Amino acid sequence: MPENTAWWKESTVYQIYPSSFKDSNGDGIGDIPGIISELDYLQKLGVDLVWLSPILQSPQVDMGYDVSDYYAIHPPYGTMEDVDNLIKGLNARGMKYIMDLVVNHTSDQSRSSKENPYRDWYIWKPPRYDEHGNRQPPNNWIAAFEGSAWEYDEATDEYYLHLFAVEQPDLNWENPKVRAAVHDIMRYWLDKGVSGFRMDVINMISKDQSFPDAPITNPNSPWQHGAQFYCNGPRIHEFLQDLGKILKEYDAFSVGEMPNVYDPAEIVKCVGFDRGELAMAFQFEIMDLDQPAPTKFLPKKWEMSALKEVVSRWQTFMYENDGWNALYLENHDQGRSICRFASPKPEFRAYSAKMLATFLGLQSGTPFVYQGQELGLANVPDSWGIDKFRDLETLNYWKDEILQHHAQDTEYQEMTMKEIRLKSRDNGRLPMQWNKEKFAGFTTGTEPWIGVNEDYEEWNAAAQVGNPDSVFEYWAQILRLRKKYKNLFAYGSYKLIDEPNQDLFAYLRAYGDQTALILTNFTEKEVGWTVPSEVVPILKGGTLLVENRNHDRSISSDGTITVQPLEAFAVLLNKSSV
Ligand code: GLC
Repeated sequence: MPENTAWWKESTVYQIYPSSFKDSNGDGIGDIPGIISELDYLQKLGVDLVWLSPILQSPQVDMGYDVSDYYAIHPPYGTMEDVDNLIKGLNARGMKYIMDLVVNHTSDQSRSSKENPYRDWYIWKPPRYDEHGNRQPPNNWIAAFEGSAWEYDEATDEYYLHLFAVEQPDLNWENPKVRAAVHDIMRYWLDKGVSGFRMDVINMISKDQSFPDAPITNPNSPWQHGAQFYCNGPRIHEFLQDLGKILKEYDAFSVGEMPNVYDPAEIVKCVGFDRGELAMAFQFEIMDLDQPAPTKFLPKKWEMSALKEVVSRWQTFMYENDGWNALYLENHDQGRSICRFASPKPEFRAYSAKMLATFLGLQSGTPFVYQGQELGLANVPDSWGIDKFRDLETLNYWKDEILQHHAQDTEYQEMTMKEIRLKSRDNGRLPMQWNKEKFAGFTTGTEPWIGVNEDYEEWNAAAQVGNPDSVFEYWAQILRLRKKYKNLFAYGSYKLIDEPNQDLFAYLRAYGDQTALILTNFTEKEVGWTVPSEVVPILKGGTLLVENRNHDRSISSDGTITVQPLEAFAVLLNKSSV
């Protein structure tokens, strides 16, 4: 509700993927000094908070989402002093540092013996034996990165749980020592000057302690998706309230990643304003529109009707129930949004990026911009084969699906490669494109850790910053609008209009005397729009806030306007001034 204002409701977050942002020492891996050298860039864009994917010490099985020391920096990224300088540099420019807190699991340390003092920090279970006397895992849960979620440990004859990679054992949150350790980590970093946390798969920390078998949804696999037994589990609110107390003490920001839960009524229990838990959550319904969980690589086309239903349900529910939305279309786990939701064709690409910026950036919630999204960066090129990919999820999928099951089937392999090029997590992990120099200005070294996209000579920051027609300046304009019309865009209501339209997504935001129309065309075609009666006065008497193509919007005698391919605009009507 509008009366519950908060600084984080008026903020925009920018996400940095440290290994791919900027390399300062030529080793081919991005680093913290590299980030510090681009703080002016972030300030020009106009973001308030900067979230870095994990920079802590890690064997990097999952790019730092496998932490081995919560009090040390991964050396290729820099030092503790670099982090202090980063925080200072951000704060000096009016920005804040948001840290990625990965505490559902750690890297695979300390699981050698039953006497190990840290053994109870993880989840261990004895084997089950089938009717033939063969040893089996304690249940049939599947891991996110393929195979059983349980790994057998010969030395102790028990299995440990890993909902992600084998090297990412889940922490046992039932153990009070684990919870206390997490609280200590939070305090340490908050004292250091971080302004809050993005909490990795935080809705998985409370598991159903009977660890039941999951119902069989995939008869072709022995392993089944058991999310209902570990997402938003029995003690989730108790655990989150403990975290919430610390966050409150520091007036800290928080966003929890909450996959597999599609009911806003469940999520609002974690993010409702007076719940004392988290500020907001990443829900996955939009991301899952074209990828049926649990695997993201199966082909599925998203539908406009579904997008409208999902967006409108979350927008309305959170507004009416005092919750808050985290708005995103991209992150380090997703393909680039122009390729998934709009058109990456050269003639449409910039329009697409701006259209999606309008669509997302003016909704109710806190917008998240993922590095390169502000430049309209695209997925990996069509020429990429599997050898170019680095992501463990992608490579495991290839191994399991192709090498084990379809090794001879070249047609199937080609289809799978196409899916991977559309949805692999690596799509968002290619080096940032700074300029048209070698390796896009990302590194001065001889080889970046992952290939640079082929389009960097044209699509880069140097070509866009200061260029009024660029995607970058368009995003900056959207973020300025959010500030200038703070009440309207942070606290205003949301209303979907012309629901049946399968090409256009149109919505209203309203606050007091102000009403804004946001209209976006997701298609590559020109669309004649019969202007709904409630929109007529806005188009006739309103002022233009932003447009991605200069185009006449006067209503013709038959009551329609023509909307150009991938067009987007926002118009504001102030009732008190008419
Ligand atoms: C989250 C992260 C992802 C990581 C996984 C396991 O989904 O965003 O990158 O692989 O958690 O930590």
